[in-house]
Amino acid sequence: MSIILLLVVIVGFFKAENNSTCKIIGNPEVPILSKEGDVTIGGAFSIYSQISIPSLSKYETPESFRCSRINLREFRFVQTMLFAIEEINNSSILLPNVSIGYKVFDSCGSTLPSTRAVMGLIDGVENTGGKSCSSVHVIIGASESSSTIAMQQISGIFQIPMISHFATCACLSNRKEYPFFFRTIPSDYYQSRAMAKLVKHFGWTWVGAIRSDNDYGNNGMATFIEAASQEGICVEYSETISRTGSREHIEKAVRVIRRGTASVLVAFLAQGEMDVLLEEVLRQNVTGLQWVGSESWITAKYLAKKRYSGILTGSLGFAIRKAKIPGLQEFLLKVNPSKDPQSNNEFTNVSELRISNNVYKAVYAVAHALHRMLICGSNVAKQLQNVNFTLPSGEQMYFDENGDPAATYELVNWQKNHVGDIVFMTVGKYDASQQNWNQLSMNNLQIIWAKESLEIPLSVCSENCLPGFRQQNTYFFFYSAECSQCPLEYWSNANHSKCVPKVIEFLSYKETMGAVLAAFSLCGASLTLIILCIFLWFRHTPLVKASNSELSFLLLFSLTLCFLCSLTFIGRPTEWSCMLRHTAFGIAFALCISCILAKTITVVMAFKAKRPAKTIPQCSAPLQRTSVLGCTLIQVLICVIWLVFAPPFPHKNTVYANEKIILECVLGSPIAFWVVMAYIGFLALLCFIFAFLARKLPDNFNEAKFITFSMLIFSAVWLTFIPAYVSSPGKFTVAVEIFAMLASSFGLLFCIFHKTQ
Ligand SMILES: *[C@@H]1O[C@H](CO)[C@@H](O)[C@H](O)[C@H]1NC(C)=O
Ligand SMILES: *[C@@H]1O[C@H](CO)[C@@H](O)[C@H](O)[C@H]1NC(C)=O
Ligand SMILES: *[C@@H]1O[C@H](CO)[C@@H](O)[C@H](O)[C@H]1NC(C)=O
Ligand SMILES: *[C@@H]1O[C@H](CO)[C@@H](O)[C@H](O)[C@H]1NC(C)=O
Ligand SMILES: *[C@@H]1O[C@H](CO)[C@@H](O)[C@H](O)[C@H]1NC(C)=O
Ligand SMILES: *[C@@H]1O[C@H](CO)[C@@H](O)[C@H](O)[C@H]1NC(C)=O
Ligand SMILES: *[C@@H]1O[C@H](CO)[C@@H](O)[C@H](O)[C@H]1NC(C)=O
Ligand SMILES: *[C@@H]1O[C@H](CO)[C@@H](O)[C@H](O)[C@H]1NC(C)=O
Ligand SMILES: *[C@@H]1O[C@H](CO)[C@@H](O)[C@H](O)[C@H]1NC(C)=O
Repeated sequence: MSIILLLVVIVGFFKAENNSTCKIIGNPEVPILSKEGDVTIGGAFSIYSQISIPSLSKYETPESFRCSRINLREFRFVQTMLFAIEEINNSSILLPNVSIGYKVFDSCGSTLPSTRAVMGLIDGVENTGGKSCSSVHVIIGASESSSTIAMQQISGIFQIPMISHFATCACLSNRKEYPFFFRTIPSDYYQSRAMAKLVKHFGWTWVGAIRSDNDYGNNGMATFIEAASQEGICVEYSETISRTGSREHIEKAVRVIRRGTASVLVAFLAQGEMDVLLEEVLRQNVTGLQWVGSESWITAKYLAKKRYSGILTGSLGFAIRKAKIPGLQEFLLKVNPSKDPQSNNEFTNVSELRISNNVYKAVYAVAHALHRMLICGSNVAKQLQNVNFTLPSGEQMYFDENGDPAATYELVNWQKNHVGDIVFMTVGKYDASQQNWNQLSMNNLQIIWAKESLEIPLSVCSENCLPGFRQQNTYFFFYSAECSQCPLEYWSNANHSKCVPKVIEFLSYKETMGAVLAAFSLCGASLTLIILCIFLWFRHTPLVKASNSELSFLLLFSLTLCFLCSLTFIGRPTEWSCMLRHTAFGIAFALCISCILAKTITVVMAFKAKRPAKTIPQCSAPLQRTSVLGCTLIQVLICVIWLVFAPPFPHKNTVYANEKIILECVLGSPIAFWVVMAYIGFLALLCFIFAFLARKLPDNFNEAKFITFSMLIFSAVWLTFIPAYVSSPGKFTVAVEIFAMLASSFGLLFCIFHKTQ
């Protein structure tokens, strides 16, 4: 559509008569402000910000656009241009005796009116004297990249240099395509890279992105994404916003932002798009995002109103450096004759001159170029390329080979002052001409973050750290997200956002395994006690008498202890339970095996004496008691020595497994433990040998067979236990140990008392 219109306009304007002078067919575009002069500077600004596009038909002359809603900031740019022109006009050093004129057109913030504006600028409407078709020597403008590009397409043909104060698109640095383009605002190439550096600086590796769907946004974001990926930053989503786009499109983009997990949003938007976006963001109540803005809106006063303060407080972004232009305020006040300076508006408030200063610099650059041209000849474009001067404010101004100025930015942070108004605090700066590591520097002011927080928000990719490491922001020269190892007793959570205490493992009564083992232990103990009761009840019967009642009671008692001592292995290990565990186990089993040993020896001795069984107990009872007591005492002695010199103690084992702590009883002295075990083994071996010797005795003594058998079971169980015990610590090993104890206890119980019914 714009192409068709452009052709219509061009043909309309340049259908010159064969009359040697220019003549316009159709309505000429009238400048908004103009003044005659020896040299004329053109200007194109978005004085109005809203445009109604007329219907375009092939068969009718297109109607002109209707622009509305005056933009006071842009109007200040225009007045700054006029101020600079007047200053130079008054100057006796720069362009003396040369009067400077101007022509200012409205580009309405859109490409279509911009093309009409440029036609007006390059055509000498008033110049009917037949001197020249072109009436301006140089054009200052426009305020957007897209308009500037559209204007370049035309003004470039006529080799009219153009200096933009606000077109930041990196695409305009292409000297092949735009050989007559200059600007006083740094290219987005630098801004995008600076933004990537900023995001990296604060350790954000997971960001969302939104951009204007035009040259400014698309090019800026493309450079940002490229620079960001070099810095190791991931972009979660990249959405577009267009001022003229459909409502659904905008709603969809904001929905994506709302659903995203990145808490940092990089917004490469022009002011118009920012307006549209903020309305929708407000409607969908998207709060808590950390905005990183582009220079187009990051210093726009009108966005910093209360309505948006909940969303935008804490925003960070790069802005063009502030400057002071002496005399400008008085000049502006003359334009807007306000009696009361307190009622200043955006137009007359000169406290934050950023882009206005770019306009001012552009006019001075033109003046210097014209000055040199008048002295040395050549053309304006060539002289512009070579200017290098110092502004009255002390700032050095020159263009590089692409027509770009030196890239320096201020880092601006949106903070609330004591009355709750948003102010733009300068918290750092970026200078592209510095060394890489030195480009971004902070000035140690407190930054206010999103949600008015004083802490840097976290926005990181989740799968960066290894297990056991967590994302951590460190500060050393710059903030960086690093994986830091969790403290000893901590482990990283699922998304590595923090360290959480490790799970502590031990065999507890509350879990099934512990409960089942405890139940078996109590069962065995009860069973043993029941048998004990039956023995007591029938203690006067010959059968019980024959089975050596005193020893049997002691054996049943020791077996009860054996069952019960497995309970000390269940539950959280404490100092006492650790000391009790192995010693209780050692003594109970020693007592138990001693009884069996005594029993066996009695049997063997009875056989050797060749005397009837019935008479055995009476004579050998003291010997039995002594031997049982003696054998057990040795074990008690070993245990006492163990407890005195190196008692077992509870220990948190963090070495064996990463993600959990094993709470275990350390033996204190492994030698003592093995001595206890070996002693039980030794007693069992003796038992086995004696029982083996006695196995062929007559029926009355066939207990010996069962003793042999029980000792075999006992040994087998404990031999299978050892490998499990040595290999891996943890609750399963304890369970195996308990199992071995219970199994051998049950084995003894059933083998020795099998016929007691
Ligand atoms: C243009 O000039 C030619 C001869 O040079 C003449 O014949 C013609 O009438 C002129 N056209 C107009 C519109 O004056
Ligand atoms: C040529 O221009 C003069 C004014 O400069 C005008 O009077 C005259 O009518 C023009 N001639 C044609 C053919 O348009
Ligand atoms: C420039 O100065 C001349 C007189 O020297 C004056 O006529 C003209 O209006 C001035 N132009 C501007 C833009 O101030
Ligand atoms: C230019 O000079 C005129 C008259 O000398 C003065 O009124 C005006 O303020 C000056 N303008 C600037 C911008 O200095
Ligand atoms: C400017 O004009 C004045 C007189 O009109 C003259 O005296 C002066 O030399 C001129 N300056 C320059 C630099 O031409
Ligand atoms: C917006 O969201 C915030 C929390 O996210 C909540 O406190 C507030 O009430 C919401 N406002 C509206 C208008 O839904
Ligand atoms: C101009 O704007 C600044 C903030 O940018 C504000 O602090 C100051 O009060 C304003 N000045 C006037 C006179 O309104
Ligand atoms: C501009 O001039 C200054 C001295 O006035 C010089 O230091 C600087 O290098 C010059 N810059 C360029 C790009 O020529
Ligand atoms: C990580 O997960 C925890 C819950 O496990 C959650 O509270 C936290 O917000 C998550 N953090 C991030 C950055 O996703």
